[in-house]
Amino acid sequence: MQSFLPNMFYYGFPVVLLSTIDEKGKADVTPISCTFTLGTNAVIALVKLNQAYENVMAVPEVVLNLPNASMWEQVEKIAPYTAKDPVPAQKAAKYTHTDDKFALGGFTPLASDKVRPPRVAECPIQAEAKVVNVNDRNGYVLVELEIVQVHAQDHLVMEGNKINPLQWEPLIYNFKHYYGIGEHKGLNFTIK
Ligand SMILES: Cc1cc2nc3c(=O)[nH]c(=O)nc-3n(C[C@H](O)[C@H](O)[C@H](O)COP(=O)(O)O)c2cc1C
Repeated sequence: MQSFLPNMFYYGFPVVLLSTIDEKGKADVTPISCTFTLGTNAVIALVKLNQAYENVMAVPEVVLNLPNASMWEQVEKIAPYTAKDPVPAQKAAKYTHTDDKFALGGFTPLASDKVRPPRVAECPIQAEAKVVNVNDRNGYVLVELEIVQVHAQDHLVMEGNKINPLQWEPLIYNFKHYYGIGEHKGLNFTIK
């Protein structure tokens, strides 16, 4: 056993394509992995250098679009880009500006029902959400969301408005490597 303090500790989180719009209505799609949900609440972490942060501050509505594992190359295709213009100096060494990450990744914007940012049509699950609180931290914000509507492809939905875990394969970000999920191991006691 070794003891240390890493500066990156992404121990396996689902990838989300976050769609947002700016005050003029221009849409952006940003890969994120710092998210969790509880009931209809969600929390995401956004670095302040990102356009997604600017957009959420201007228009406090988002869509959490969930790519499946097979979409990892589309996600990685847009990963080196930012909609911020100019690119902030701290990002300039690794990131390039683009006006349209939807087109770059082969993603199609689809109108949402209850929020202004569009959904990503190719993502099998999409959750529309409204910002209810923003917690300012050094360099990033923790954004609390209320999920107001979920859309899922027919084959993923079970009786009772539930997602079928036997059909859904999330894309997992494991210390910056992309994974699907492995074989089925078992069930939680509440559904046995
Ligand atoms: C898989 C993945 C997960 C990421 N997770 C986050 C995250 O949770 N929060 C964040 O602010 N940036 C995250 N990023 C980085 C942003 O996607 C990146 O900075 C991007 O340029 C921001 O785009 P934007 O400026 O157009 O919003 C992640 C990137 C990838 C590829």
